Amino acid sequence: MLPLILLAGLSCVSTTAQILETVAQWPLLDFALPFDQEFLNQYRPENVVPTGIEVTWDKVFVSIPRLRAGVPSTLNYFPRNIPLESSPQLQAYPSWDWHSAGRGDLNCSKLISVYRTKLDRCNRLWVVDSGIMTSIDNFTPVCTPKIMVFDLKTDQLVRQYEFPRDALRPNTLLTNLIIDDTSATTCDDVFLYISDTAGPGLLVFDGATDRSWRVVHATMYPDPNFSMYRIGNDMFELLDGVVGLAFSARLGTVYYQPLATDRLFSIPTTALQAGPPAFGEQLPVTLVGKKSSQGLALAVDPRDDTILFAPFTETIIAAWQPQTNKQRIVAFSPEKLQFTAEIRWAEHDNGNIWIMSSRFQKFFRRQVNIRDINIRVMRLRPIFF
Ligand SMILES: *[C@@H]1O[C@H](CO)[C@@H](O)[C@H](O)[C@H]1NC(C)=O
Ligand SMILES: *[C@@H]1O[C@H](CO)[C@@H](O)[C@H](O)[C@H]1NC(C)=O
Repeated sequence: MLPLILLAGLSCVSTTAQILETVAQWPLLDFALPFDQEFLNQYRPENVVPTGIEVTWDKVFVSIPRLRAGVPSTLNYFPRNIPLESSPQLQAYPSWDWHSAGRGDLNCSKLISVYRTKLDRCNRLWVVDSGIMTSIDNFTPVCTPKIMVFDLKTDQLVRQYEFPRDALRPNTLLTNLIIDDTSATTCDDVFLYISDTAGPGLLVFDGATDRSWRVVHATMYPDPNFSMYRIGNDMFELLDGVVGLAFSARLGTVYYQPLATDRLFSIPTTALQAGPPAFGEQLPVTLVGKKSSQGLALAVDPRDDTILFAPFTETIIAAWQPQTNKQRIVAFSPEKLQFTAEIRWAEHDNGNIWIMSSRFQKFFRRQVNIRDINIRVMRLRPIFF
């Protein structure tokens, strides 16, 4: 019997000893643009929607894929030591030189379009570059998808990997990643599990051998019955496959969810690491549970293996421990939790949960109101009595 996560029809919210604090907020994102007229000419702020954050001791990285034309830089940061609720200008990372795509100059040795990044234990940022321009409007592949690793101490590129053709499909769109260092002995022999949202499937990268392969299962595809989303009064349709990923090191499990589904699935990391599956081989996928509505962001709190997720329609962050079936609403805000794109358990913030919401539905439908706060980076701060 499946554990049902029944969070629909929510009328009252249990109080928790945590508050949702807004670290940074913007009506539209703002950049510290370089003195280069071409960046300014191409910049279209109403087309700029972030999809991922990563939290270090002193910076918050913000990934902004080129969903539509007019994104100045696809990988950015702002400093952490800013007053709450401020609207910092984003700084291009590692420098503007890496973002010539923002001035119309496409060069495959630079950054093209990044959805998410992850920090490893060696203070290095792993960046998956989709290589796709204007993915929402006309999906133009311009460069081979690649992994780039930047050392945050020197801001230098220290490793690079281009995916081989046989791991890719014509509409491959790499959007999310997990770093699995449970069996690693160095900074480099990690495994990466990467979502291909439009392909759909998972790519596995073996850092010890520089090999990668694709695993596919029907549960990674969008469910057409769940391709319509409701957030507040907004409805929108998107037939997206696997994108939400989370990882429990202790259980050796990767959790995943397509955008268009009400379900959450899992797969053991042993099955992912075993190399390319033989033709016709079935992957050991488990249906973990059902959610009250669709969602994107997923995270695991490694202290107790609680899964954190964000059903769009309820505008909540929910926590669920699958072993005990304990469920909890950790945050609720129809105003601040419209389209939660990211939930991060922040090791560099004492394990506090960081959240990014983008009101993507309004940008997508070209109905963004520039008098509203549309994009927020938030943090769940414990209250001590
Ligand atoms: C692309 O960028 C690399 C690294 O900056 C540079 O060496 C190369 O000349 C550039 N290629 C073109 C065609 O501009
Ligand atoms: C979609 O909904 C229809 C009608 O409720 C149902 O018959 C069908 O099995 C559903 N399909 C999937 C993939 O769940």
